[in-house]
Amino acid sequence: MPMQYTIPVTRTTESRHSSIDFQNLPFGKVISDHMFVVEFDGENWIDPRIEPFHKLEISPANLALHYGQSIFEGMKASKCKGEPVLFRAEMHARRLNISAERMCMPKIPTELFLQGLHMLIDLDRDWIPEQEGYSLYIRPIMFATDEYFGVHASKTYKFLIFTGPVGPYYPKPVKLWVEEVFTRAALGGAGEAKCAGNYGASLLPTQRANKAGYDQVMWMDSIEKKYVQEVGTMNLFFVMDGKVITPATTGTILRGITRDSFLRLLKDWGYTVEERLLSIAEIVDAYWRGSLQECFGSGTAAVVSHVSEITWRDRKIELPPVDEEHRPVGTRLKNYINQLRMGRIPDEYGWLDACTGALKNAEAQAPVLEEAAV
Ligand code: COI
Repeated sequence: MPMQYTIPVTRTTESRHSSIDFQNLPFGKVISDHMFVVEFDGENWIDPRIEPFHKLEISPANLALHYGQSIFEGMKASKCKGEPVLFRAEMHARRLNISAERMCMPKIPTELFLQGLHMLIDLDRDWIPEQEGYSLYIRPIMFATDEYFGVHASKTYKFLIFTGPVGPYYPKPVKLWVEEVFTRAALGGAGEAKCAGNYGASLLPTQRANKAGYDQVMWMDSIEKKYVQEVGTMNLFFVMDGKVITPATTGTILRGITRDSFLRLLKDWGYTVEERLLSIAEIVDAYWRGSLQECFGSGTAAVVSHVSEITWRDRKIELPPVDEEHRPVGTRLKNYINQLRMGRIPDEYGWLDACTGALKNAEAQAPVLEEAAV
């Protein structure tokens, strides 16, 4: 990719890599050595750089803390024939900017996002786990930095990318509770944006569901509490009567990039795929008729997470065992993505981006420094 920005790199002199148990990687706990940082000064994105991962100093008056101008992405890097690759990186960069627009935040140039990301992944390539189903999770985040507690849009922002090696987000099939008291988002709200507030508001209902023995809530539409939305950490797919059905993205749910990839694959594999309103009553009806074959969630973190049980009021839907025979669609998608990421099948859709060489190409423009000893 073209290296049009000068992005100096300061390498850590105290790598934490050797202290990490790469066989035991609970999601979200381990953070890699470096991060990409750039600031918005009210007019321009300035001073892009790669630095050792470090804590930030935040004013108590920071606008993001009060009024929620904070958006993020979740993406993954893997090793494909030994070399680091990103999955659909450009689409993530574009989605971040769609979230930015909704939250009244500045857009970051896609080329700057992608150059910083490629260099960071090339630099921290040793942090990418190589076992199947494991990857380097990438967290781009943008937040307001004005120190001002009146309600208005911040003028200044920080954009960061940091990473961490992860294992499966849901190591087991998940049990879902159909949530009819709380809702995730209403039409006209911010449900389509990947903003911090959507996740904050999901925590209480999720905690209540966890206490009752469920892993996650299945959100319903905010008006009739009738139509399935998403799970909050993933989009949902149902296989019913031989068709694959997923709720349409009508403004209240996240436009999942894994969801988009699955729709493309399923269509190309010859499945009948429907993106539409799907009511919980239709799902229960299909279950009683014996034609509900599969249910799974899709997401960057989750990849494919099979659903084992759905409870709606006093009705329990028990889904078939998770194996290739009973879950052919979800299993095929999961295998495809895992195999693709590891370079075991050809990248026929051009979804992978190589990172090798990004640092070297960029070095021609900016020196790589050693972190000053402390
Ligand atoms: C992802 O799938 O990457 C997400 O952002 C969901 C969750 C881990 C926050």
